[in-house]
Amino acid sequence: MSKEQTKALTLEKEGHPELGEVEGIPLVQVTCNEWQRIQSFQARPDDLLICTYPKAGTTWIQEIVDMIQQDGDLEKCKRAPVHHRHPFIEWFLYVARNAKDCMVSYYHFQRMNKVLPDPGPWHEYFEMFMAGKVGWGPWHDHVKGWWKVKDMHCVLFLFYEDMKKDLKREIQKVAQFLGKNLDQELLDKIVYHTSFDVMKDNPMANRSGVPRSFMDLSISPFMRKGTVGDWKNHFTVAQNERFEEDYEKKMAGTNLTFCMEL
Ligand code: A3P
Repeated sequence: MSKEQTKALTLEKEGHPELGEVEGIPLVQVTCNEWQRIQSFQARPDDLLICTYPKAGTTWIQEIVDMIQQDGDLEKCKRAPVHHRHPFIEWFLYVARNAKDCMVSYYHFQRMNKVLPDPGPWHEYFEMFMAGKVGWGPWHDHVKGWWKVKDMHCVLFLFYEDMKKDLKREIQKVAQFLGKNLDQELLDKIVYHTSFDVMKDNPMANRSGVPRSFMDLSISPFMRKGTVGDWKNHFTVAQNERFEEDYEKKMAGTNLTFCMEL
């Protein structure tokens, strides 16, 4: 039995593990164990780093970048699952997604992902997320931190909501950032292949190759809904009021109001 299979079986037996912690940030155990190696990562001048808070559309932007870099060659883009094509170093192309939909997406992800803790019922998960006690810490600090440094470094800051609104325009921004010129035909091809419906059926993007003992897609698919505003189906009125009050405090001094405008 391979090392991966043994690990998968152990996980199956043990169920959802607890998070570890590094410098006050809750993280999955495997990341904690690898922290020294992660910290010593040295980027080369021409490296492209994609950064997101969990569930903000990491897979989506990875597929877009690969399609651009491979000049739309589908065979090349199918050479491996997307999470292998872009290795996670713990993994500067930042994608932000509104916190309410991130919370909902993360909740369903934790239900099916056996590497993360069991989220429990929604009302408990809501409290955990608000307190920043989820893997990779508080959404607010993550997004705010990258928003503050975006003009000091070579960072392309994108929003999931903009990608949903006008994917073609956002792909053009990425291509320009990468110094690539896309003709109309190639652009249309990338828009098509990175649409939710096509990626949902793409085994190299939808995690269908991941062992069920790691991700049980029958509990919740990885490509779940891919929409803006699913939080309205989960938040109570009282939760929304609390969230917004808290958001205003935590995000004061930034002009990032996009969570309130949906
Ligand atoms: P939902 O759970 O709301 O459906 P990540 O890759 O960072 O883990 O993010 C996963 C989220 O991005 C999921 O959100 C998933 O459906 C969504 N997503 C992935 N590809 C997408 C696409 N092509 N269009 C829209 N949403 C996409």
